[in-house]
Amino acid sequence: MKHIFKQGKSGNENTIFLLHGTGGNEHDLLPLAEMIDEEAAVLSVRGNVDENGMNRFFRRLAEGIFDEEDLIFRTKELKNFVDAAAEEHRFDRKRVIAVGYSNGANIAGSLLFHYENVLKGAVLLHPMVPRRGIALPELTGLPVFIGAGVNDPICPPEETEDLMKLLHGAGAEVEVCWGNHGHQLTQMEMEQAKAWYIKYM
Ligand code: MLT
Repeated sequence: MKHIFKQGKSGNENTIFLLHGTGGNEHDLLPLAEMIDEEAAVLSVRGNVDENGMNRFFRRLAEGIFDEEDLIFRTKELKNFVDAAAEEHRFDRKRVIAVGYSNGANIAGSLLFHYENVLKGAVLLHPMVPRRGIALPELTGLPVFIGAGVNDPICPPEETEDLMKLLHGAGAEVEVCWGNHGHQLTQMEMEQAKAWYIKYM
């Protein structure tokens, strides 16, 4: 997959795995990684799906209605990509923390819904429930930060609450930060994500 890798600065660091929103690319979230942990290595990837010229991580049938078959296929593709990237760029596969926004948060959530030990932690910014009606893998103690909006028209609060319950039910330690700027990323969310990262990562 098309991506950017930036070497970390301390020699024994986490890797921040950046996943952009619909229509974005691998450059979009680089400042976010810098803000969360300037020492960390960065792996930022471009979604492989093209929706009318917009990059995405999996196909959808309509706004908020996912193509499940493609989601499952792309989730596996992304997992394989991270495994291979760890070999190629020589970062610690056990210390990968996803930071995803919107469509990128949804595929990061899907990684957690389908694979055990796939991430050390996850910052999900305005995520939805990636899939319903499946048994989640064991996520005991896995730290997850969710940035949500009380008035997010794409990811309404009930969706966030369902996601929180599903992750929590699998054993994850979920922290939610509620904002009121719709689907937008906010400064407050970023600051809380950073505080969460310092505490857990
Ligand atoms: C998705 O399709 O992943 C969500 O609806 C968010 C988005 O619009 O990208």
